Amino acid sequence: VRRIYVVTGSASGIGAATRSLLEGDGHVVIGVDLHDADIVLDLANPIARRTLPDRVRGRASPNLNGVIACAGIGGVDPSRTAEESAERARRIVAVNYFGAIETLAGLRPMLAGADTPGAAVVSSIVSPVAVDEPLIAACLDGDESHALELASRDEYRRDKRAYAMAKRAVARWVRRMAPLPDWAGAGISLNAVGPAVVDTPMGSYLLDTAAKRATVTVGRPMPLRGHADPGHIGSLLVWLTGTGNGFVTGQMIFADGGHDAVVRGDNTW
Ligand SMILES: NC(=O)c1ccc[n+]([C@@H]2O[C@H](COP(=O)([O-])OP(=O)(O)OC[C@H]3O[C@@H](n4cnc5c(N)ncnc54)[C@H](O)[C@@H]3O)[C@@H](O)[C@H]2O)c1
Repeated sequence: VRRIYVVTGSASGIGAATRSLLEGDGHVVIGVDLHDADIVLDLANPIARRTLPDRVRGRASPNLNGVIACAGIGGVDPSRTAEESAERARRIVAVNYFGAIETLAGLRPMLAGADTPGAAVVSSIVSPVAVDEPLIAACLDGDESHALELASRDEYRRDKRAYAMAKRAVARWVRRMAPLPDWAGAGISLNAVGPAVVDTPMGSYLLDTAAKRATVTVGRPMPLRGHADPGHIGSLLVWLTGTGNGFVTGQMIFADGGHDAVVRGDNTW
C-alpha cells in the first residue's frame, strides 16, 4: 500500500538515503531541506519552521503515514574562533533539537487517523562529554532563547557539547512524549535512532583519510562494519515508521555497529 511520508534533511546523507528507500518501495515522500527539496525551509528559524504544517497540508491533505526527522548539523570544528563556535552552538540547538521536535509535534495531528502511523527522529550515540542538565531542561521546557543562550556559554568545545546535549534532549523528548495519549493513545509510534559514525557529508571529516579511519576504529569502535553507510540508518527509520512496526515505541535504538555494546557493556538495563 502506498504511504505518504515527510522526511527532513532529504537533500543529503541519511535523509536522502531514507527518501530513496521509501520511493523505491513505491511510497510518496515530501522532502524538506534548505535546498533541493519539495519544501525549502530553514528549520533553525522558529517563524519559518512553524509554517511547515500548513505547507505540508498544501501537498498531502489530510493524512500522513510517516514523519522522519533527519535534518541536522554537526558540532566539531577546532578551527572555529570562539565567536564562530558560540554561533554554531546556538544553531545546533535550534536545528537539532527545536527543528526536530517541532517537525514531529507540528505534523503529529496529520498522523492521527492514518493507517499505522509512525514518527522517528535521528539522535546520536551520546558523546562522552559532560552532561549539561540546565541546557537539556531548557530544551524540554520549550524555552528556545534560554537554551540557545546556555549553548553559547564560554566553555571548552561548546559546539561539541551543544551537539551532544541537543541529541540527548531529543531522545528524552521522545521518551516523554511517546506514551502519552497524543502519540501512543492515537496509535502513533515515536522512536529515536542513535547512529555512531555514518559516511555522509557530515560524517566524512572522521573518515576521509586512512589515519582518521584508524583513529575512529580505536576511539569509536564499531565492530560490525567499522562505520555505517547512510542506508544502514535509513532502513531502520523506514522500518520504524512502516507497517511492520506494530509495537515498538518510546525507544532510542542505537544503530551503531556494536559501539554501545562495547562502550557500556553490561551497564545498561
Ligand atoms: N553522519 C554521522 O556520522 C551522524 C552520526 C550521528 C547522527 N547523525 C545525525 O544524522 C542526521 C543526518 O545527518 P547526515 O549525516 O545525513 O548529514 P548531512 O549533512 O549529509 O545531511 C543533513 C541534511 O540536513 C539539512 N539541514 C541542515 N540544517 C538544516 C536546516 N536548518 N533546515 C533544513 N534542513 C537542514 C542539510 O541541508 C542536509 O541536507 C543529523 O541529524 C545528524 O546529526 C549523523
